[in-house]
Amino acid sequence: MSFTHFLQICQQRVEKSLSFWLPEPNIIPNKLHEAMRYACLDGGKRIRPALTYATGQALGIPVEKLDGPACALELIHAYSLVHDDLPAMDNDTLRRGKPTCHIRYGEATAILAGDALQSMAFHILAHDSNMTNNPVRRLEMVNVLAQASGSRGMAGGQAIDLASVGKALNLAELENMHVHKTGALIRASVRLGIISQSLAEPSIVENLDHYAKCIGLAFQIQDDILDVEGDTEALGKLQGADIARNKPTYPSLIGLKKSKIMAQDLIEQALGSVNMLGERANPLRWIAGYIIDRQN
Ligand code: IPE
Ligand code: IPE
Ligand code: MG
Ligand code: MG
Ligand code: MG
Repeated sequence: MSFTHFLQICQQRVEKSLSFWLPEPNIIPNKLHEAMRYACLDGGKRIRPALTYATGQALGIPVEKLDGPACALELIHAYSLVHDDLPAMDNDTLRRGKPTCHIRYGEATAILAGDALQSMAFHILAHDSNMTNNPVRRLEMVNVLAQASGSRGMAGGQAIDLASVGKALNLAELENMHVHKTGALIRASVRLGIISQSLAEPSIVENLDHYAKCIGLAFQIQDDILDVEGDTEALGKLQGADIARNKPTYPSLIGLKKSKIMAQDLIEQALGSVNMLGERANPLRWIAGYIIDRQN
């Protein structure tokens, strides 16, 4: 199987699950349900779900057990994007090649859509009957996702991001911001895959966690790089938005060349940590490579 084929399968699975769980727009409140579907369906690379599936494949976990966690991760991610784009945050008008949720449905509905997508993620982890039937593991998944999304995870990273506009962060502070705003959810994507079945050996868990930490940071460094040298049409979001808003980014702090070297180095570290998993970890390897090769 090639990476393209693997990613397509992941994308199809998550699209189907999202469509199943998200209420239809003909259900009241119609506009809210329409906005939720607008923000989630038909777009996005689905990297976080792909990571959950790839982790599952590396550990020999049946794919059906991973649909719920994969869907929950994408819902949290989609919610984070809807709120990230709001005027009070990054004030963006283009996302995944379409007008942002608040441009299409208004700010109030976009805020509520984000809120409801977040709740739905936890509903799925609590309720999906195809997932693990071990209640302890299910609870651990809820806890991992809650921590990764909250003030000590993604939301905390977003708070640091907003407080840092126009400020000169040092490298450690910038890394801390990226590790929280983007890294936490990527790390949780691998973690939820691991928890989906009986615990893997501690050394494997540790190595997979190291893999996830490295690619999580590399992912946001590449996002910063693409803001400088990407193309609005390919990105599906406005190129140059960070520069225009004076956001602290890796290229602004250490330059493009060093940013690329750093991202490459992180990917090599990530690849090193999955060495012991053999061929079944190929999807994890493909995703690592894709993170720094991607154009969107
Ligand atoms: C964009 O995430 C926001 C960041 C965390 C950098 P993605 O690049 O995964 O966005 P989609 O889901 O593919 O649109
Ligand atoms: C967003 O980071 C991270 C989130 C938690 C959504 P960015 O603000 O850099 O993401 P983009 O560039 O708008 O996709
Ligand atoms: Mg932002
Ligand atoms: Mg943004
Ligand atoms: Mg960005």
